Amino acid sequence: MIRKKMLAPSLLSADFGHLANDIEMLNKSNCDWFHLDVMDGVFVPNISFGFPVMEAMKQHALKPLDVHLMIERPEKFIPEVQRLGALVMNVHQEACVHLHRVLQQIRNAGMMSGVTLNPSTPVCMVEDVLEDADLVMLMSVNPGFAGQRFIEHTYEKVERLREMIDRRHLPTLIEVDGGVCRENAARLYEAGADVLVAGSAVFRAQNPVEEVDILKNC
Ligand code: DX5
Ligand code: ZN
Repeated sequence: MIRKKMLAPSLLSADFGHLANDIEMLNKSNCDWFHLDVMDGVFVPNISFGFPVMEAMKQHALKPLDVHLMIERPEKFIPEVQRLGALVMNVHQEACVHLHRVLQQIRNAGMMSGVTLNPSTPVCMVEDVLEDADLVMLMSVNPGFAGQRFIEHTYEKVERLREMIDRRHLPTLIEVDGGVCRENAARLYEAGADVLVAGSAVFRAQNPVEEVDILKNC
C-alpha cells in the first residue's frame, strides 16, 4: 500500500523570540501539521508552553495543529484544546487511567484522538483501544526535551504496530516523535509510519524549508 508521507515540525525547537517568523517559514514549506509540545513539569521533567502561547501561534498558523500533551490528567484540557481548533489531541497512555473514555471524549469533541507511548511502553498497551484511536504516536526519545538521540528499537515497534493495525484493517495513523532526521526518516516511513515529527532536524538545518522536503521525500 502506498501511504502519504507526512511531516510535522515541532515548534519546541523554534526561536521563541521570533515565533511568528518561524511559523511564516513553515507556512511556506510543504510540512503537513504543526506539532505543539505541552509539558507540565510533572509528567515530564520540563515545562514548555501553554494555551496563551498556542493561541498566539494559531493566529499565524496555516496548517492543522497536532497537540502533544506531556501532562498528567490531560482529559481536563479537552475543552481548551477543542477551542484551540486542534486537528489532533495526543495524550499519553501512561497519563490516562481511563484511556478508552478519554479517547472517546476527544473524538466527541470533534478532534482526532491520538494516544502516545513512551519508549518503555510496549505497543500491546494500545491493542484494546485501537478502534478508538485515530492515531498512535510512538516516542523515539524519552519525552521532555528536543535534540535527543533517536532510540533504534523504535523501528521494530513501528513494524509491530503497523502489523496490528493492518491485520484489523483500521485507518489508524502511526506517528513517530523524537530524534527524527535524514538518517532515519526513510526507514521509519518504510517500517509503516505515516507522520514524522521533527524539531531540531528542521529548525537547526541551514535551510529549514528545504529540509522539510528532504525529510518527506527520503
Ligand atoms: C520531546 C517532544 C518532541 C521534540 C522533538 O519531548 O515531544 O516533539 O520536540 O524534537 P527533536 O526532533 O529535536 O527530537
Ligand atoms: Zn512531541
